[in-house]
Amino acid sequence: MELEFDYFKKWVKDKLRVDLDSYKEKQLHRRIGTVMNSSGAKNLREYAELIQKDENVRRVFLDYITINVTEFYRNKEIFDEFEDGIKSVLVPRFKNLNIWSAACSIGAEPYTVALIMEKNNIKGYKILATDIDDTILERAREGKFKEKEIKNVPKPEIEKHFLIEEGQYHISENIKKKVHFKKHDLILDDYDKNFHAIICRNVTIYFKKETKIEIYKKINNSLEKGGIFFTGATESIYNPSSFGFRKLSTFLYEKV
Ligand SMILES: C[S@@+](CC[C@H](N)C(=O)[O-])C[C@H]1O[C@@H](n2cnc3c(N)ncnc32)[C@H](O)[C@@H]1O
Repeated sequence: MELEFDYFKKWVKDKLRVDLDSYKEKQLHRRIGTVMNSSGAKNLREYAELIQKDENVRRVFLDYITINVTEFYRNKEIFDEFEDGIKSVLVPRFKNLNIWSAACSIGAEPYTVALIMEKNNIKGYKILATDIDDTILERAREGKFKEKEIKNVPKPEIEKHFLIEEGQYHISENIKKKVHFKKHDLILDDYDKNFHAIICRNVTIYFKKETKIEIYKKINNSLEKGGIFFTGATESIYNPSSFGFRKLSTFLYEKV
């Protein structure tokens, strides 16, 4: 079975360009087992063949492995801290804020940042939003959301920035045009530079320690000095100074 897994992981890397070696092993094996069984394949070789020839099977596999649960203002109280950080740290320090939401899923996170910028009347900012998953990026560009995904958005912001059609919440063109979506793999791709804030939440929990360390170093390298790194609710950094960060709060780190 181990051999089969090694073969499968190598096959996925060659054919689909996803590096499963960087994901936590036990969790990954369990998830692959579950998604393979649901496809009807009896073993990993058979599953690889199915993935190769059936686009739907491939889609389900990638979606299941990459886990794209999200919502607007996820962990609202932590987003409030981020908003404070933007106003009290970044705005006085930098002009034309350049922000990156990495592993953005369907876009709820970068659109939340745009809502915050609009609410605070901050001008001239740019938001880059990236994810490894092409299909999810298409959904993000569309900007249509379910009620449960916008449940934390304050009512005045819903009224101002969403159009409700057939039970779906469409984000306004005004907010949409503030976010540029692009495919990016946090493990295999190079990182852009000169960001004033990088938000990378609820993705490194799936990665092995060594992978996380590499990602923190690259994020630090992509930030301007004095810029902010915003992590997820379960992803606080144990030794921020070893990556060139100073802790501002449990989830906010400043590049020193
Ligand atoms: C749980 S969602 C997090 C979404 C959002 N950041 C949030 O906190 O609500 C995890 C996202 O990470 C993406 N992802 C997984 N592996 C990735 C990788 N190697 N590089 C970039 N994105 C990745 C998935 O496609 C998924 O959309």
